[in-house]
Amino acid sequence: MDRRKFINLSGLGITSFSIPNFIQSTIPTSSIQPIVASTWDAGLRANVAAWDILKNGGKSLDAVEQGVMVTENELNCCVGLGANPDRDGIVTLDASIMDHEFNCGSVAFLERIKHPISVARKVMEKSPHVFLVGAGAQAFALANGFSLESADLSDQAKKNYEAWLKTSNYQPIINVEKHQSATYNDSAFDAPKKLTDGQWNHDTIGMIAMDQFGNLSGSCTTSGAGFKMRGRVGDSPIIGAGLYVDNEVGAVVATGQGEDVIRVAGASAVVEWMRQGKSPEAACKLVVEKINRIKKEKAKDIQVCFVAINKKGNVGAYALQKGFNFSVYNNEGNKLNDAAYLI
Ligand code: GLY
Repeated sequence: MDRRKFINLSGLGITSFSIPNFIQSTIPTSSIQPIVASTWDAGLRANVAAWDILKNGGKSLDAVEQGVMVTENELNCCVGLGANPDRDGIVTLDASIMDHEFNCGSVAFLERIKHPISVARKVMEKSPHVFLVGAGAQAFALANGFSLESADLSDQAKKNYEAWLKTSNYQPIINVEKHQSATYNDSAFDAPKKLTDGQWNHDTIGMIAMDQFGNLSGSCTTSGAGFKMRGRVGDSPIIGAGLYVDNEVGAVVATGQGEDVIRVAGASAVVEWMRQGKSPEAACKLVVEKINRIKKEKAKDIQVCFVAINKKGNVGAYALQKGFNFSVYNNEGNKLNDAAYLI
């Protein structure tokens, strides 16, 4: 007997050991189906860890933490300690997590800690605060048992940084996410306009999930924009911008150019559209359209994307530009989906 049936039955004071098989098969299970959704194709791997928790009756909060830890462990350009550094050559990480009771925790500008998402969860659970940054966040992490990792760049990040230094004029670059997204392709750093479909890839891992209890949680972790100004913080650790969960309505996570997600309180805005009755995709689209209106002709130089789950367990996503995909794992399997887009 699966854990969900067991819990439903145990709520009636019945255990699996006391029920004949023919009766067990006639007892309806809950209509709530666990589900997890995450940004980009890296989400496929992250979803596996999250689904392992959800399918065994675990909590969505544990699922979204363990899920994105998979990506933090991967040596890629945009998440975790293997990521591209800021323009001073230092990797700084941002992360946030939120549960079904409006509990939330964030860290930003965090150096040399392998799992910022777990530090964010500790901030949520073990501090009186919601958001710790920089040296304070690192000191809190060390005081809570996290290890100080090497400050060395990963081999790939070192190569990317050296390539970027050749052309950098140390000015903020409006389409900097194109640069960081064009991983493992040095020529792209010199010619961001020439990027092809799919190269908007993998700047952040954001994950939202519903568990068998119908509870929603979300997580988001990133190194932010590659070669950013020192001290720059994006949307990912900002509750209401990069991530928001309202257990009565839905959960939303964002990826893309953080500055433009922050200025519209993106994730929170998507939740509010779902509260008005919009589907997850329609709600994401309305906020992307607003960003497009604000940015005017500059909209073509950025990417922003949202993924949302509503209280019924329906998932939707929408992006400003072509090329965003999102990963969904439910009882039917783990699938990569192309998001609808505006431009
Ligand atoms: N969306 C990630 C960032 O802008 O930092």
